[in-house]
Amino acid sequence: MILVTGATGNVGRNIVDELLKSGEQVRAIARDPAKCALPGEVEVLAADLSRPETLAAALRGVERLYLWPVFGQLQGAVDAIAQAGVQHVVMLSSEAVTYAAEEPHIACEKAVVESGMSWTFLRPSAFMSNDLLWIPQIAKDGVVHGVYGSSAMAPIHERDIAAVAVKSLLAAESGVIHSITGPQSLSPQERVRMIGAALGIPTRFQEVPRERVREQMVKYLSGYVADQILDRRRETQGEVAPVLPTVDVVTGRPAYTYAEWITHHEAELRPVPQL
Ligand SMILES: NC(=O)c1ccc[n+]([C@@H]2O[C@H](COP(=O)([O-])OP(=O)(O)OC[C@H]3O[C@@H](n4cnc5c(N)ncnc54)[C@H](OP(=O)(O)O)[C@@H]3O)[C@@H](O)[C@H]2O)c1
Repeated sequence: MILVTGATGNVGRNIVDELLKSGEQVRAIARDPAKCALPGEVEVLAADLSRPETLAAALRGVERLYLWPVFGQLQGAVDAIAQAGVQHVVMLSSEAVTYAAEEPHIACEKAVVESGMSWTFLRPSAFMSNDLLWIPQIAKDGVVHGVYGSSAMAPIHERDIAAVAVKSLLAAESGVIHSITGPQSLSPQERVRMIGAALGIPTRFQEVPRERVREQMVKYLSGYVADQILDRRRETQGEVAPVLPTVDVVTGRPAYTYAEWITHHEAELRPVPQL
């Protein structure tokens, strides 16, 4: 039995589908199972990773587990997972642990390592799915606001992170860290242009003061970590971002391009005509 946490999220939802395709028995947790639309073959139980006392039923008989990292609240869940006898944990982390001190995934990785369980860490670059946050701006006037618009990254499709996660769950090889990027170095300016071209609508990137972006980031991260991430983006303006072969090597197929990601999300990205 494989337990998928974060199963309603961008990555976890795709992990569920891939595991079912591989013929695995899948259980998932959600804080409100009534609200999630997971396939009927999946056993969905109500549980909350920040409340370890809710996890017992979900952990019964589980051999391998995909772990969604709850910032600052994961230790109790990791203790419960280890006590339940889970043999291998694949945890979603972030490439940011490699350059941002005190980045919250660092503590999540430490908790899993210290648990003594066998583990794999996934350290993806920025998700392509972050760009779904642009939908209201694309719908309004096609102008996407942000900072350091020429700072490139190699964003990764959520399906590719899921594919690497599934291979890692099935291999259950301990102590492996997969740094994962998408197949192209692309700046926000380029991605906004690509969305416009694909949808046949005018779009452009508009620089805004760094402080405006930082205000959004500190809802999820400390000011110290947000500053390190923004500093890195400032320093990498105009540079080509590194592209890693991980998806190809681990899954045996190429990583999805940004153009493919737009196609997969065209229905969400396309502005609804106003009557
Ligand atoms: N965005 C990026 O560029 C980026 C880059 C590197 C790493 N990451 C990592 O990826 C994460 C986002 O992953 P995602 O996009 O797949 O998820 P997501 O779409 O943001 O969805 C969040 C998932 O986590 C679950 N969840 C949240 N709090 C929970 C809790 N207390 N107990 C149990 N489940 C909980 C939610 O489940 P329910 O609501 O159904 O309970 C949902 O399934 C980030 O938080 C970060 O750790 C992101």
